Amino acid sequence: MGRSEAQQRIEELKAVLRENSRRYYVDNAPTMSDYAFDQLMHELEALEAAYPEYATPDSPTQRVGSDLGRREFVQYPHRYPMLSLGNTYNLAEIEAFADRAVKTLDTTFTYSCELKFDGTAICLTYRNGRLFRALTRGDGVVGDDVTENVRHIANIPQQLKGDYPEDFEIRGEILMPYASFDRLNEERARDEEPLFANPRNAASGSLKLLDPEEVGRRGLMCTLYHIPSQSLSFETHSQALDAAARWGLPVSDERRICHDIKEIEAYINHWDTARRNLPYATDGIVIKINEMAYQNILGYTAKFPRWAVAYKFKAEEALTPVLSIDYQVGRTGAVTPVANLEPVLLSGTMVKRATLNNADQMALLDIRIGDSVYVEKGGEIIPKITRVDLTKRPAGTQRPVFPSVCPDCGTPLVKEEGEAKYFCPNTDGCPTQVKGRLVHFMGRKAMNIIAGDATADQLYNRGLVRTPADLYDLTKDQLMTLDGWKDKAAKRFLDSLRDSRNVTFDHVLFAIGIRYVGETTAKEIALHFGNVDALMEASLEDLLSVPDVGDVIARSVHDYFRDERHREEIRRLKAAGLRFAMEGRTAASDVLAGKSIVISGNFSISRDEMKALIEANGGKNSSSVSSKTAYLLAGTKPGPEKIRKAEELGIPVIGEDAFRAMLPGNAPAADLPADEEEPNLFSGLV
Ligand code: IVH
Repeated sequence: MGRSEAQQRIEELKAVLRENSRRYYVDNAPTMSDYAFDQLMHELEALEAAYPEYATPDSPTQRVGSDLGRREFVQYPHRYPMLSLGNTYNLAEIEAFADRAVKTLDTTFTYSCELKFDGTAICLTYRNGRLFRALTRGDGVVGDDVTENVRHIANIPQQLKGDYPEDFEIRGEILMPYASFDRLNEERARDEEPLFANPRNAASGSLKLLDPEEVGRRGLMCTLYHIPSQSLSFETHSQALDAAARWGLPVSDERRICHDIKEIEAYINHWDTARRNLPYATDGIVIKINEMAYQNILGYTAKFPRWAVAYKFKAEEALTPVLSIDYQVGRTGAVTPVANLEPVLLSGTMVKRATLNNADQMALLDIRIGDSVYVEKGGEIIPKITRVDLTKRPAGTQRPVFPSVCPDCGTPLVKEEGEAKYFCPNTDGCPTQVKGRLVHFMGRKAMNIIAGDATADQLYNRGLVRTPADLYDLTKDQLMTLDGWKDKAAKRFLDSLRDSRNVTFDHVLFAIGIRYVGETTAKEIALHFGNVDALMEASLEDLLSVPDVGDVIARSVHDYFRDERHREEIRRLKAAGLRFAMEGRTAASDVLAGKSIVISGNFSISRDEMKALIEANGGKNSSSVSSKTAYLLAGTKPGPEKIRKAEELGIPVIGEDAFRAMLPGNAPAADLPADEEEPNLFSGLV
């Protein structure tokens, strides 16, 4: 490779790695497998080593991936940088790591071998035995303060026992066990919410929810594996973790002390298969030099410790032929290609189908009916097709033609600019869409009406219901004509319809099924506008001022209410008695009486509006932090000096969401993958 070619490839790799790192750490929705990502990272490392003139400090090889991205959390600098681990899929490189350590240290030492837990990193600080703070890794230099969420994770103690030190840090991983993951995704599938790709994404998405109680319900767990040597001094790493276990902290029992590469390899071989019986995901083995003194000799690079390395397991894959491709229509009209596969056993389950996402993805894979394809699971429940084995391609195969008309109603499909998917535009006439919207409307997180797909099918097929408003015109006699429905079933259904009139406006807004308006966005919008009349008249600019609402959502909501059929539907639902206003939202209160609050940074509303909100609820806004301050209310980019002062005086620092949660009728917003990156709030500090 020539110099200019190398330079070009380096730039290309940097861009691809940065983009995928953001999808992985910030959006929790990776589109590239870990293996492919690691391969590209290694290619970049090799190129930068060969052409050091093109290596820059901002290269992904020099920085740990950043999970910062939401403005809802206050951020704090890490006392010691939170680094990543060098990794390899190759045993020879583990041998090379051990050889290097033997040569450099030139004495006897041991290795601590551990599982590499596949979750999201966390840093806990305990002061006087109490959990004081929990920070995410962030960008390794500053992390998001998720302490309140972590307090709701069952196996993290609030209070230590025994001879714990006064003040120390311990780091580890937040995991979502498979059982919790399956339950969560089943719920999300029922509610037509996007599924989490794997337990790792589910864990990090859940850790960044804005509702700590909901975090508690997600069934997360923690395992701790590192006490920075600057924080506490122990002779060995394993002694440090044993001590942590005695203080009541969750530490893995699967750690082993190994003396040489043979023992390390035996540990790796054992867990390569035994890990399938663990209740949570692991993606490799971590090998650490056990003696702290030797760790200190080996030291760190900008990104990794030199005293540890990760051996990663390659995701299991299987090769199987594609029998056919289906094109499925969803309630929004989006058409998704799905490959039907010759059933094949993968990580203990039979895989028969795999999603192909969209036409672009199909073209990228160059997939054809009859091709043999590799499917991969790697801790993910939705199998992915990673590549086609072209050597097995039968003669005479053709590129599949994406249908030009809806497979359900025959209407020509459309693809809007910037959209990856084709849509059936026959919103009101396409049976799958109409029924899909009814099922969504009745869903548990929407109107919570006791009915399933079969009921929606029958109501539609009998011509009784076309839109949600029709549900509220149903009579008992009509319901009794449904197959298998008797008096009791009809009564139950009508009772459930009656109860749905008490469902709050944010859920009603979610239920009507505006494209891109998930549960969380619906809540944000409902809180912001307060009622549907204000929302219907909102301009694009008004919509864009709602937290977490970007161009795509704003346009979708705006377009929805410009459609006269939708306005008519809202009028009918209103007449049926559904709630279309947030009760108590603007009501003043005295919940902040006697409290002096300092604000710093930017909020979803102007600073003047924020001051008015504090005063309307009985509080006082003051300009500087003192011992009399009740809270420092920090938005995005708060002043570092104010934060430091609050820290020093032990004044709680709260984010906008936590603040709003204190006010009557203002529940905090819940989870939503971030759609924009926020700058580092403390860049001036560290
Ligand atoms: S030690 C200074 N031990 O893997 C390095 N990390 O891919 C401290 N991880 O950032 C990390 N299991 O989030 C360590 N037993 C283990 C681990 C582990 C999982 C994570 C950790 C790290 C990432 C690197």
